[in-house]
Amino acid sequence: MFYEPASGHGLPHNPFKAIVAPRPIGWISTRSAEGIANLAPYSFFNAVSDTPPIVMFSSSGRKDSLHNAEETGEFVCNHVSEAQFKAMSQTSYAYESGVSEFAASGLEEADCRVVRAPRVAGAPAALECVVTEIIRPRDREGRHCDNWVVFGEVVGVHIDDAMLTDEGRFDFEKAKPVTRLGYLDYGMAPPVVTLARPK
Ligand SMILES: Cc1cc2nc3c(=O)[nH]c(=O)nc-3n(C[C@H](O)[C@H](O)[C@H](O)COP(=O)(O)O)c2cc1C
Repeated sequence: MFYEPASGHGLPHNPFKAIVAPRPIGWISTRSAEGIANLAPYSFFNAVSDTPPIVMFSSSGRKDSLHNAEETGEFVCNHVSEAQFKAMSQTSYAYESGVSEFAASGLEEADCRVVRAPRVAGAPAALECVVTEIIRPRDREGRHCDNWVVFGEVVGVHIDDAMLTDEGRFDFEKAKPVTRLGYLDYGMAPPVVTLARPK
């Protein structure tokens, strides 16, 4: 089949996000200016630079994570492991903005070193970020989409020592990342294969 998105796909559900899959999940924690902790998963998330390290997440509509990142200039990206899969899903619930998803989802906050936002205790890794820019993508007519892309420079990296191999590598097979597929589907850590770059 072929379709042009502007004309509709004709399928029971939009396949776009199932095609752009698996996507890593940025489990974004922030703290409001009033001091309330916030936590939510974002699969429009990725790394976009490694020197310096920069990540981004995209908010579809104006959500609390965007609001807090804008207001405080900080966010934290927590790694989602299989062990915290269900809690991660629970944090996507639309709680009132005065409610912390940490407490509501049975998760504990751990302190960050550089930013005021908390991180998720027990996560295999967490990236402390300082907001560098927030942009709104445009369509081909130049009209803004209903999305806000928040970029942040990683200023602190937490790694659970238990996730490191004897050679000092972050061990994918121990960290067991959960990824987002299409529809209501998720991917669990796939087998790892190693392949040298072509010379
Ligand atoms: C796995 C997963 C990935 C999600 N990815 C996104 C995303 O990329 N962008 C977005 O706006 N919402 C996404 N959502 C929905 C938000 O997590 C949800 O709207 C949440 O309530 C936002 O919380 P906040 O207002 O505290 O930021 C996702 C939900 C799940 C379960």
